[in-house]
Amino acid sequence: MPDRPLRSGPALRALTPRPFGATNATMGPFESLPAEVSVYEVSPRDGLQNEAVTVPTTRKVRLIEALLDAGLRRIEVASFVSPRWVPQLGDAEEVVGLLPRRPDVVYSALCPNERGLERALAAGVPEIAVFLSASETHNRKNVNKTIDETLAVFERIVPPAVRAGLRVRGYVSTLFGCPYEGAVDPRRGLEIALRLVRMGCYQISLSDTIGVATPVQTRDVVRLFQRELPDETLALHMHDTRGTALANVLVGLELGIRTFDASVAGLGGCPYAPGAAGNLATEDLVYTLHGMGVRTGIDLERLGEAGQVAEAIVGRELPGKVHRAGVRSLRS
Ligand code: HMG
Ligand code: MG
Repeated sequence: MPDRPLRSGPALRALTPRPFGATNATMGPFESLPAEVSVYEVSPRDGLQNEAVTVPTTRKVRLIEALLDAGLRRIEVASFVSPRWVPQLGDAEEVVGLLPRRPDVVYSALCPNERGLERALAAGVPEIAVFLSASETHNRKNVNKTIDETLAVFERIVPPAVRAGLRVRGYVSTLFGCPYEGAVDPRRGLEIALRLVRMGCYQISLSDTIGVATPVQTRDVVRLFQRELPDETLALHMHDTRGTALANVLVGLELGIRTFDASVAGLGGCPYAPGAAGNLATEDLVYTLHGMGVRTGIDLERLGEAGQVAEAIVGRELPGKVHRAGVRSLRS
């Protein structure tokens, strides 16, 4: 399909990009906060894929049910990738089959190729997430293809998935740095994101796979993407390897991003990114947003209980700050 100017594309006609560079010099930080943001929970997928132990199916379902009880409504529950590459998530069909079907909940699952789409359609998930990296070496190690080969696969699966009624999300990994190549040009990531949106992805999650981003870098990358894409098509997926995830998310919030990926108790990583640690902990995100008067629809105390379930099923201490402090410690 020939490329065309993005803003004339039918998928984006209803969306209004914010004017780039529109600032109000009289306003300080956090003086124009949204009433509510969306939290996209990734612990059952990004979290469990990186655990040394393979968690039994029923315990994964227990975690997802605890997340539902806490109020999470967008949850990445499984991965239709090769079970030889990620054995920890080899029971994707069984997990999805055991979940309560609820009209107010969107379950999502990773999908790398045609076989993944077939499995997702058969399992009946309402959403899939395609993923690729902004750096060649990580992409090769993660999906055994070049970036162009991966995009060609997605050209074959995203439009049919959308026609079949699925929502399709896209991840651009290693956007802030690559474990093999070091610095990454975010303009390459933007080109990839534009391709994914043209194919039919409703949202692109800008991903700091190995947790190297800092706030000024996050500002620059988010602004670069906002020049071409409306805010509602963008999300931030920050890993907290170096303790900068929350600071980066707050920069995104200030700039107009309204979806943030997070993982309960900080569970997570990427098996093909050495040194990648957990995602931003959902409790840390929710605690901070609620303290700033931004709603999430999540009950922090119930979320704390989900964090306890996460810790119990993986059998090791998890690093989330609020998880470690204990949400109950907030009571006087
Ligand atoms: P390949 O070996 O090049 O695949 O892997 P292939 O097409 O040559 O197939 C080889 C075998 O795998 C065949 O089986 C296929 O049927 C099977 P055989 O004939 O040898 O018995 N196969 C599959 N089986 C089940 N489901 C499938 C599937 N596809 C092929 N969908 C492939 C290519 C993409 C499959 C592989 O590299 C793979 O599964 N990679 C996934 C890696 C992964 O999941 N990484 C972690 C997720 S990404 C991430 O964490 C980042 C993120 O969090 C954002 C961020 O933080 O940056 C999203
Ligand atoms: Mg990740």
